[in-house]
Amino acid sequence: MAAELIAKAIRVKPNLTLGLPTGNTPIGMYEDLVRAYREKNLDWSGVRTFNLDEYAGLGPEDPHSYRMYMQRHLFDHVNVSPRNIHFPVEGNAYEKEIREAGGIDLLIVGIGTNGHIAFNEPGASFTSRSREVILTAETIANAQQHFGSNTMPTRAVTMGIATLLDSRHIVLLASGASKADIIRRALNGPVTEAVPATVLQTHPNVIAILDEAAAAGSKF
Ligand code: PGA
Repeated sequence: MAAELIAKAIRVKPNLTLGLPTGNTPIGMYEDLVRAYREKNLDWSGVRTFNLDEYAGLGPEDPHSYRMYMQRHLFDHVNVSPRNIHFPVEGNAYEKEIREAGGIDLLIVGIGTNGHIAFNEPGASFTSRSREVILTAETIANAQQHFGSNTMPTRAVTMGIATLLDSRHIVLLASGASKADIIRRALNGPVTEAVPATVLQTHPNVIAILDEAAAAGSKF
């Protein structure tokens, strides 16, 4: 469903500005987008992409970097122009790049089991902008599976919460029972910086795409 939304948006606006997530959740979405390129001529040549976050201290060629994740799951398989691909390296510069692109039209975002959106961990200010952050123990524990015996970074550069909220349209993705509790708190609970995703309740154009397991605890 998320891939269909993106594909439709690209057909309406060929130079669409996309905010893109990494992680386990969007893998199927990227598979469908690659299929849309191959089978339905979805043209990525004008699309501008801004990834939500990146580990600090990992070069773009590092197999564990989010840049490499994006190459593997999307960029290597579609006709996106390398000059239109953007990753946060330094906060202020990223804000400028997003501004110069005219802002983000459509932002896709996952949610951490602790309620983080991008790498804005609990307690992050709703007015935060792109910056370097320290990852929480819970986030590190959840991501360690991808690093095997390699040491995992403890810092990242992320879009801030205010940066995310500036996007014109936001799609929240969650799947699996491990997300049911945090989805309930994010969508039905009080808006608080202790649960960063609750800020999405204040945005006028948010769609949540959830599987049944992730939606099981929520009221709609
Ligand atoms: P996941 O990560 O898709 O791997 O669950 C989501 C997130 O932490 O934002």
